[in-house]
Amino acid sequence: MPGLSQKLTAAALVDKLAGRFRRAGLYYGHGTDNPRDDAAALVMHVLALQPDAPPSAWRRPVSKVAQARLAKLAERRIRERMPVPYLTQRCWFAGLPMHVDERVLVPRSPLAETIEQRFQPWIAPGRVRRICDIGTGSGCIAIACARAFPRARVDAVDISPEALQVALLNIATHRLGRRVRAVLSNHFSGLRGDTYDIIVSNPPYVGKTEMKGLPAEYRHEPALALAAGRDGLDSVRVLLGQAPRHLRAGGILVVEVGNTEHAVRRHFRRLPFTWLDFTRGGGGVFMLTREQLVQVR
Ligand SMILES: C[S@@+](CC[C@H](N)C(=O)[O-])C[C@H]1O[C@@H](n2cnc3c(N)ncnc32)[C@H](O)[C@@H]1O
Repeated sequence: MPGLSQKLTAAALVDKLAGRFRRAGLYYGHGTDNPRDDAAALVMHVLALQPDAPPSAWRRPVSKVAQARLAKLAERRIRERMPVPYLTQRCWFAGLPMHVDERVLVPRSPLAETIEQRFQPWIAPGRVRRICDIGTGSGCIAIACARAFPRARVDAVDISPEALQVALLNIATHRLGRRVRAVLSNHFSGLRGDTYDIIVSNPPYVGKTEMKGLPAEYRHEPALALAAGRDGLDSVRVLLGQAPRHLRAGGILVVEVGNTEHAVRRHFRRLPFTWLDFTRGGGGVFMLTREQLVQVR
């Protein structure tokens, strides 16, 4: 294969790939925000380098076989605009490894930070026994919640049977099958009388016009995971309308709506949303208590 050299080190390959990605004008929105991090993720995947690899590991020459594998993946990143996590089938959420493929959205929600903080100060962690994740996709939020609350049972709900297959795989990998239940359901419809201390969701929230303008990278993700009707509020409306019936006294609803935040504020003026702050970036996540939801009905 042209361009392969016996002397190229892992570090040099990152430089080379980052340059190619930069020139190709790719879009970064799936866990990285620049060409260098995308290149490093691919090199680390092919060479099985861990994040804590010593500097010497980056100075070793890379075999021609590994270089050829890398070249193929880089080609797909450029030609197909394939997000890196779909190429490596691996990503991290709240410090936990997740299998991902094109059946599910690539996990990137700022909710990871909220879960790591055990939803404090909005609820006392010690009282949390049941959690529901609506639109679970890869299961990342449900799994991270189960890890953060070792005494809680978690329902991981999705309308997509394909997504639930991925969620089940991740649930099994993390050995959480006894506490995390995958539920095929349109929002709450399959949950009947179940009630929760926390309902958390990263639902679809992209409006019709915005969908048309998304960078090519996002077209590899299931449309079901992104599109939410004309104004992007289809799922949010259901969550706000039906959550009170499924929340216990003192329970909370926490929902990511991204840049649909403005539309949410406009459409639901009477709801006293608390918009969460994040130290690691991101936003557009609101919290409401059951009592706040019920009061304005
Ligand atoms: C934005 S993705 C979030 C995936 C995952 N929770 C994450 O944060 O990476 C939204 C998920 O909601 C699911 N979904 C869409 N409509 C739904 C519905 N009516 N009921 C339940 N899940 C739905 C999609 O299949 C998709 O997996």
